[in-house]
Amino acid sequence: MPRIGIIGGSGVYGVFEPKETVKVHTPYGRPSAPVEIGEIEGVEVAFIPRHGKHHEFPPHEVPYRANIWALKELGVERVIGVTAVGSLREEYKPGDIVITDQFIDFTKKRDYTFYNGPRVAHVSMADPFCPEMRKIFYETAKELGFPVHEKGTYVCIEGPRFSTRAESFMFRQYAHIIGMTLVPEINLARELGMCYANIATVTDYDVWAEEPVDAQEVLKVMAENNYKVQELLKRAIPRIPEERKCGCADVLKSMFV
Ligand code: ADE
Repeated sequence: MPRIGIIGGSGVYGVFEPKETVKVHTPYGRPSAPVEIGEIEGVEVAFIPRHGKHHEFPPHEVPYRANIWALKELGVERVIGVTAVGSLREEYKPGDIVITDQFIDFTKKRDYTFYNGPRVAHVSMADPFCPEMRKIFYETAKELGFPVHEKGTYVCIEGPRFSTRAESFMFRQYAHIIGMTLVPEINLARELGMCYANIATVTDYDVWAEEPVDAQEVLKVMAENNYKVQELLKRAIPRIPEERKCGCADVLKSMFV
């Protein structure tokens, strides 16, 4: 049974050869795609392409609940979310990796919870990311010589549109990076007592920066980011301990009302 689940985009394709593809039906419908099971450096992992095999789910339509439920059902305890993000700060440069440690939710209408009643639960979100995985990813990225930030606050917007300049200036006061997919993936993983870590790769400066986005440059940065993410996953995953000492599962103890 895979204990590690990866949810990501095309950047993760090719990091492992799936040995098996599992069609999972959940109470919340089907995941974005059948779950691929394989090994990364001898460690069994499950992978879901967040936006579907053919990129058919935009960020606001991703079946987040089905994805997390499917991974849980397959035995996954730790989820690694790989995301591409924009930068809200000069020092977070295109090509950098961010091991996100906080988030701000600016999404508007998604399915945020498995607890819509009659069972009610309020999950603690003060420190939402798995400290064990964050440390491993940060130290491994440094060891590989990749430009990496140990921390960063991710503002998650609804999308699919990008921000206005006014929004971007506002977000910049509070956050370092901006994307569209972290929420509610992380909320849901936490509600099921799973660890969650985010590897964010910066593709662009958001619109607060005056410079127009160069599509060729973004594509080049994305290709380089994909290489870095794959190397990071290969080196870091075997270092993730089997036994969880992070306390992420303990949130369940204080969750129910
Ligand atoms: N994903 C990548 N770049 C982004 C940006 N500038 N805003 C929102 N999501 C993004």
